[in-house]
Amino acid sequence: MMILSTFGLKITKATSSYRSRLIVEAYKNWLKKGDKVLDIGCGNGITTQFLKEYFRIDIEGCDIKNYLVYKIPFKKIVNDQLPYTSRIFNTALLNDVLHHIPKEAQEQLINQAINIADKVLIFEAEPTFMGKIADILLNKFHYGDLLIPLTFRNTENWQELFKKLGLKSKTIKLERPFLYPFSHIAFKLQKV
Ligand SMILES: C[S@@+](CC[C@H](N)C(=O)[O-])C[C@H]1O[C@@H](n2cnc3c(N)ncnc32)[C@H](O)[C@@H]1O
Repeated sequence: MMILSTFGLKITKATSSYRSRLIVEAYKNWLKKGDKVLDIGCGNGITTQFLKEYFRIDIEGCDIKNYLVYKIPFKKIVNDQLPYTSRIFNTALLNDVLHHIPKEAQEQLINQAINIADKVLIFEAEPTFMGKIADILLNKFHYGDLLIPLTFRNTENWQELFKKLGLKSKTIKLERPFLYPFSHIAFKLQKV
C-alpha cells in the first residue's frame, strides 16, 4: 500500500511538473519576480511550488479542500467565499479550476478574484473530446473525490463572459504538445 502510494505520488509530481511548464509558458510575460500571488484552487500545490521557484514570486494557495503535498501558505475556502476581503495581491491564478465548478459559479469566482488582485490569470483547456476524457481520468487519479462537471467553455465563450463581467482580457492559445490530450488557453483579466 505504502509502495503504491509513494509510486502514485511520483507519477503525480511528474505529470503535474510537465503541466506546470505549460503554465510557465502561458504566464511568462504576466508574472514577475517578487509579485504577491494567490493560487485559487491550488489543489496539490505542485504547480504553486513550481511557479514560486520558477518566477521567484511570493505565492500562497486557497482551496475548498486541502489536497496539498507541499507545505505552502494555505487558507481554506468556506461557503464559496475567498478568505480575503481586500486587494492585497498583484495577481490571482485560476489554473484548471473553473471547469470544475458550475457555470453560474464561474462568474462569482472570477468577480471575487478580481476584487482581491490587480489582475487574474486563467489557465484552461478547450472543450475537446480528448480533453474531456483526459480530464475525467487524470482528475480521478490525482484528486479522487473532485467534482468533474466538465463545464468547459471555448475561447469565444470565455471572452464573452469576461466582457459581460466588465473585464478586459488578453488571450493566449498554447501549442498542443505531440500526443498531449489538452489544448490549453490562457487569459489575463483586468478591470477596465
Ligand atoms: C484540477 S484541480 C487544479 C489544481 C491546481 N490549480 C493545479 O493547477 O494543479 C481543480 C482544483 O479546483 C478546486 N476547486 C473546486 N471548486 C472550487 C471552488 N469553488 N473554488 C476554488 N477552488 C475550487 C478543487 O478543489 C481542485 O483543487
